[in-house]
Amino acid sequence: MDVARVEVYLDNQDEPFAVLEKPPFTLELDPSGLSEGTHYLIAVVHYADGSVDHHEYVFEVARKGPVYAGHIARAPIMAPIEVRMVDSVELEAPAKPDFFRYALLPVLLFLIFAGTATWLAYYGENAIPGGALAAAQVETEEEAKTPAAAGLDDGKALYQRLCASCHQADGRGMPPTFPALAGNENLKDAEYVIKTVLHGKPGTAMPPFAAQLDDQAAAAVVSYIRTAWGNDFGPVTPEEVARLR
Ligand code: HEC
Repeated sequence: MDVARVEVYLDNQDEPFAVLEKPPFTLELDPSGLSEGTHYLIAVVHYADGSVDHHEYVFEVARKGPVYAGHIARAPIMAPIEVRMVDSVELEAPAKPDFFRYALLPVLLFLIFAGTATWLAYYGENAIPGGALAAAQVETEEEAKTPAAAGLDDGKALYQRLCASCHQADGRGMPPTFPALAGNENLKDAEYVIKTVLHGKPGTAMPPFAAQLDDQAAAAVVSYIRTAWGNDFGPVTPEEVARLR
């Protein structure tokens, strides 16, 4: 039987989506023009003798990134027309390399990596050079003006990091377990303090710091505890530390 005309309706639309007037009665469906999900297509076939027939197609449209793909989920076994799905359609021009992902992120990752490595190199294995800590710290203008104070600031920073967990930030300790350093007359004896910090107190919780602190850093922290919180025992020099190491 001759087909005169095929009207194709999409979903519930009143107007035909396409009208095929002559053979081959092939409809190409472009999924990129359709929303994601299930769609219905009804092909109304008008035959030459005036009879009408209709066939239903069901198809799915999915989007993966810029690519739209459709596939026909259900089609009539015998139909005088052929509905074909255009292959996966690239919807947009291929995305330009994303600046963040391709340029910034690797740099950020590298910085994090390098930063961690440097940190480990400094604090993990090597002794802490007193000068490096001062350089790493952001100094206020005022502190930067007085180089003499810079050494003590090193000592303070080192103390907060290495000692305050036990002796407390304000030097009051937690007696009787952790002795107070503030107002502690034992700190008058510079040699005793230096030795205690370098070698710790074996058999007690007081750890040795010789491996972690170079002469300058050890002198800075010892000077700090001997002069902070109202202590008035005076600073010590890196040379004194070197002698007692
Ligand atoms: C894990 C805890 C702990 C940390 C950290 C610690 N100490 Fe101590 N420290 C002690 C204990 C406990 C004692 C007392 C040891 C004893 O029984 O004689 C002590 C004793 C001392 C003493 C001798 C006090 C005295 O009266 O004889 C000094 C000085 C001292 N610590 C300085 C420091 C400094 C400086 C740091 C950091 C560089 C530090 N300590 C870190 C636990 C700690």
